[in-house]
Amino acid sequence: MTGPVLPLGGVRYAFHTFGCQMNENDTERLAGYLEAAGAVPAGSIESADLVVINTCSVRAKSEEKLFSLLGRLRSLKKKHPFLVGVAGCVAQVRKDRLPEPKSGVDFVIGFDQYHRIAEIAAESRHRKMIETSRRRIFREDPVPPVRESPWSGYVTIMEGCDNFCAYCIVPFTRGRERFRPLSAILEEVRGLAAKGFREIQLLGQNVNNYRDPKTGTDFAALLSLVAAVPGPEWVRFLTSHPKNVPPALAEAMARTPKICRQLHLPLQSGSTAVLERMKRGYTRERYLETVRTLRSLMPELRLSADIIVGYPGETEVEFEETLSALSEIRYAGIFSFCYSPRPLTAAAGLVDDIPPEVKRRRLAAVQALQKDIQTAFHQTLLGKVEKVLAVGRSKKDPAVFAGRNEGNQVVNFQGPEDCLGRFVDVEITSVGPYSLRGRMLTR
Ligand code: 5AD
Ligand code: SF4
Repeated sequence: MTGPVLPLGGVRYAFHTFGCQMNENDTERLAGYLEAAGAVPAGSIESADLVVINTCSVRAKSEEKLFSLLGRLRSLKKKHPFLVGVAGCVAQVRKDRLPEPKSGVDFVIGFDQYHRIAEIAAESRHRKMIETSRRRIFREDPVPPVRESPWSGYVTIMEGCDNFCAYCIVPFTRGRERFRPLSAILEEVRGLAAKGFREIQLLGQNVNNYRDPKTGTDFAALLSLVAAVPGPEWVRFLTSHPKNVPPALAEAMARTPKICRQLHLPLQSGSTAVLERMKRGYTRERYLETVRTLRSLMPELRLSADIIVGYPGETEVEFEETLSALSEIRYAGIFSFCYSPRPLTAAAGLVDDIPPEVKRRRLAAVQALQKDIQTAFHQTLLGKVEKVLAVGRSKKDPAVFAGRNEGNQVVNFQGPEDCLGRFVDVEITSVGPYSLRGRMLTR
């Protein structure tokens, strides 16, 4: 007996993923659809018949990376033919520019067409395809994702963003906020628990806004329900918006040991005036107050943030307020960026008046200060024992394992082969500003 003819039967696929965890999760979903249509993983871009690039457009630099990868793929295509698809945020906003005859792009696929990727890829063997229309409701995937990790699973709880921060392109690429039904979220979490997943990472652009479409259950309640599913030992989530960290959320975190004592709370700027121009919806003082409340409930909470320097009109004094906020808050880690204007955003209409060399100097100052803060913090961890989920091997030395602690920091350690996928105790033996190293203790 022969089975049905699958549109991508035997096609070898590979992904290149830029950007955030949301994109990583989307790649896993897209791979699920490709495999359901008969495609198989190629192992590398060089040996693939179909390469899908999942793109990010949050900063100008992210977008530039796509265009240099496309250049590389065009020269590879001269050696052997394969299909190139572009998904993600750049696909959504630059759809008209991408498939020009010379780009090497065979199809462009928007977020709302992901379930049709197999059909679109198959069709694009005959003609270039662009499919990027938008919708307003959350749609469940009928096929399971192909998850990269068998231990740590992403679970989407919402899509899109309604905040329209003045600099940010996300509301234009990922569209309006859409919440996934609570029942579907819990079903996916239970499925992961049954498969032995150790950690659940709830994903959304703005998780604090979550409301179950039917019952109105909020994010704090959702978090408690997810944590009550037996099996996984850690639950974490991102991203939270600082304008809206309700007391119920802080309390749910504080009273539930399974919810990791870790929070990514993007500050962006330490200046109230800049925050106002960014349309962030909070002041420096309110942010600091939120941090105080969280830390009074959870003194061991590890905070991280995103910082933008060189926003239009940012004066030296305003910039220094970002530095002083960093000194006051003492984050466990930050991601810092030079402002770049993005199409469609409100700030794109402002003059990008901070010269590139000033932006670079401010970025360097932020990073130097944070380096000192992290070095001092890491030194306090020397000799301490941290619970670590072993998730892979160190990139530099395959004999060394890599794990993450409850604060989501990477910890490299020596350990036995069978430690992968387990929670292990690691004594921190040496630290750098960006790294923690240790040895595994046997129980
Ligand atoms: N310029 C620089 N950084 C930006 N980010 C978002 N938009 C821009 C932009 N136009 C940063 C913010 C956000 C992170 C994901 O990317 O800090 O939190
Ligand atoms: Fe962008 Fe602001 Fe939405 Fe975050 S909250 S995705 S920064 S618009």
